[in-house]
Amino acid sequence: MNPPVDPLLSVEDVHVRFARRRRGFWRPRTWHTALSEVSLTIGAGQTVGLVGESGSGKSTLARVVLGLQPRDQGQVRLRGEEVDLTRPDTTRAFRRAVQAVFQDPYGSLNPTMTVATILDEPMRIAGELSTRDRQDRVRELAELVGLTADQLDRYPYQFSGGQRQRIAIARALAPAPDLVVLDEPVSALDVSIQSQVIDLLERIQATTGVSYLFIAHDLAVVRHISHRIAVMYRGRIVEEGKADQVCDEPSHPYTRLLLASALDADPTTSARRRERRRGLARAFADEFGAHT
Ligand SMILES: Nc1ncnc2c1ncn2[C@@H]1O[C@H](COP(=O)(O)OP(=O)(O)OP(=O)(O)O)[C@@H](O)[C@H]1O
Ligand SMILES: [Mg+2]
Repeated sequence: MNPPVDPLLSVEDVHVRFARRRRGFWRPRTWHTALSEVSLTIGAGQTVGLVGESGSGKSTLARVVLGLQPRDQGQVRLRGEEVDLTRPDTTRAFRRAVQAVFQDPYGSLNPTMTVATILDEPMRIAGELSTRDRQDRVRELAELVGLTADQLDRYPYQFSGGQRQRIAIARALAPAPDLVVLDEPVSALDVSIQSQVIDLLERIQATTGVSYLFIAHDLAVVRHISHRIAVMYRGRIVEEGKADQVCDEPSHPYTRLLLASALDADPTTSARRRERRRGLARAFADEFGAHT
């Protein structure tokens, strides 16, 4: 077994619970456990794929990794150092080192700014580079994600969904982060555009050595880009390993179900496969009391 290469960020035994809305003043407060005993390591230059059904806790874990989600228990370490977001100096370094891209770039790109301003803004706020150096860096970032120089003067609404996601990726890369958390970055895009964005992410990783935490519903998409895959089910990581191993020899019944469902979505899938999936779903429901 290869140990993970040079651990960059690790999440250790994290628990997160949310208070449920009380149904009456005298009723006791009840809690929903969103993450339970979650541990995960992301190696330098690596992509860890995170899959699981809706509500399994993927975005909550993403927020933990980004330092945006209070935890009831557990730690986050960056290069072995515990991340303490009560200290301004560590917070500044951490906010630079870990960046995010979300599903809907339209919601996160300021519509009143040109692309050049959007890319420049994080660097201007950081205040480390001269205006001239920032201009060079903006052009470099645009080139990295395949935007032309004249597109830099346009506004987000003048781009397609796939191009907007390129802008969001470029902005995330502006402070030269060590890790980018990508929460369903291609889920809203057409399949052909999805693969372009994924190829782009792979090329960027090859040139910059950045790590990714890549979240998606679709195991096929995740398999393509990930070195390792973690499978979440009801707030727990139920399986984690090398991408091929998780996909070819899944050890947890939920992973087998996910794989069978992925085949199911394929129009060429035979009735026999569909029947096999139904069998797996029934066996899974029996074992875990889940409704699938
Ligand atoms: N701020 C919050 N307050 C209360 N409950 C929350 C909050 N955020 C998430 N939850 C609950 O925690 C669970 C996990 O949610 P999360 O968004 O992490 O799931 P997810 O795996 O990202 O789902 P999806 O695939 O739909 O994006 C869900 O049951 C959700 O309703
Ligand atoms: Mg989510």
